[in-house]
Amino acid sequence: MAEDLAIITGSKAEQYQSLIPQIKGLLDGEPDLIANMANLTAALKEQFGWLWVGFYIVKKDELVLAPFQGPVACTRIKKGRGVCGSSWAQSKTLIVPDVEKFPGHIACSSLSKSEIVVPVIHNNQVVAILDIDSSEYDQFDTTDQQYLEEIVALVSFS
Ligand code: SME
Repeated sequence: MAEDLAIITGSKAEQYQSLIPQIKGLLDGEPDLIANMANLTAALKEQFGWLWVGFYIVKKDELVLAPFQGPVACTRIKKGRGVCGSSWAQSKTLIVPDVEKFPGHIACSSLSKSEIVVPVIHNNQVVAILDIDSSEYDQFDTTDQQYLEEIVALVSFS
């Protein structure tokens, strides 16, 4: 396994296209979920420099904080609450250009301005979510959605 990530400049799509094979390399042959989530969040944070990149894992009726990179965060989120709980309840990716305009947004950090939450689906069930926060408004779009959905599918829950 390469120990250094190759960080590139370029369009968002070019950055994801450079990163995805490297993430595959990091996860290849490693069955441990927490180890893979940890490296995946580190790789995304290192390439894109976002404020916060992390997973929450579904445990009973709550999301519980899992590997992340960034400032300390809320540990438990109920289904349907905030952007994360809404993504879980709706089983779909949510893009929020301005977090203050999202009803019920949970402000773990006052620095967060925009957010994307991508559900991790296994056997037709949401088993975790990937949450990314930016300190700038309107930082996420369908390009992020497309590539991040591809990336979270690399995390094995079997
Ligand atoms: N803002 C999220 C909570 C998680 S933190 O951003 C890390 C939400 O509204 O669900």
